[in-house]
Amino acid sequence: MKKFAVIVAVDEKMGIGRLNALPWRLSGDMQRFKDVTIPCSAGKQNAVVMGRKTWESLPLKYRPLPGRLNVVLSSKPVADLSAGVLQAGSFDAALTLLDGRDDVADVFIIGGGVVFEQAMRHKGCNRLYLTQIMGDFFCDVFFPSIPPDFHLVRSSESLKENGVVFRFSDFEKEISFS
Ligand SMILES: NC(=O)c1ccc[n+]([C@@H]2O[C@H](COP(=O)([O-])OP(=O)(O)OC[C@H]3O[C@@H](n4cnc5c(N)ncnc54)[C@H](OP(=O)(O)O)[C@@H]3O)[C@@H](O)[C@H]2O)c1
Repeated sequence: MKKFAVIVAVDEKMGIGRLNALPWRLSGDMQRFKDVTIPCSAGKQNAVVMGRKTWESLPLKYRPLPGRLNVVLSSKPVADLSAGVLQAGSFDAALTLLDGRDDVADVFIIGGGVVFEQAMRHKGCNRLYLTQIMGDFFCDVFFPSIPPDFHLVRSSESLKENGVVFRFSDFEKEISFS
């Protein structure tokens, strides 16, 4: 089974979204998202796995997320999937689908709340890329608590954009399967 990473931005209450949108606009965080999820070896691409609501929350001009294989989780056919976007009917079905593809390098789970819940308790999750945003953005969707077996491996300095302070923190967990 492929290991996978989670990438998320949270406010100080672990909020991640409001009214099916991001409550902040931070170009530095968008750049970090690209820097983490796009690079991989030649001839391959990384995969980004998201819930149907997160897919629908992406502005039309940004979806599918370029340079990555987009996978959308839904229990029913999603009407407006672009060419090349894959759909999976369960979390493990998405992982199995990606496991079978030699052209896929790393797998990133990119949200939202329902999908993060499944990812963080899954045994294949070994990395967490967390953007910690100071302040309460009155979110209506939240990230689960970070399990204690995830250890902080690096943290950036504090950054500031439009008066909002944030920092990047990377966590890892040891897992035993290859
Ligand atoms: N801050 C961040 O980093 C970040 C990142 C991403 C998203 N967000 C925010 O998160 C919010 C959306 O999160 P959300 O929790 O409401 O929705 P979500 O997780 O994006 O999508 C939930 C939907 O995904 C499908 N799904 C999830 N798990 C599935 C499974 N195991 N099998 C089949 N289908 C599955 C279901 O679709 P069906 O109902 O079609 O079956 C479910 O209703 C938005 O506010 C968005 O802006 C924040």
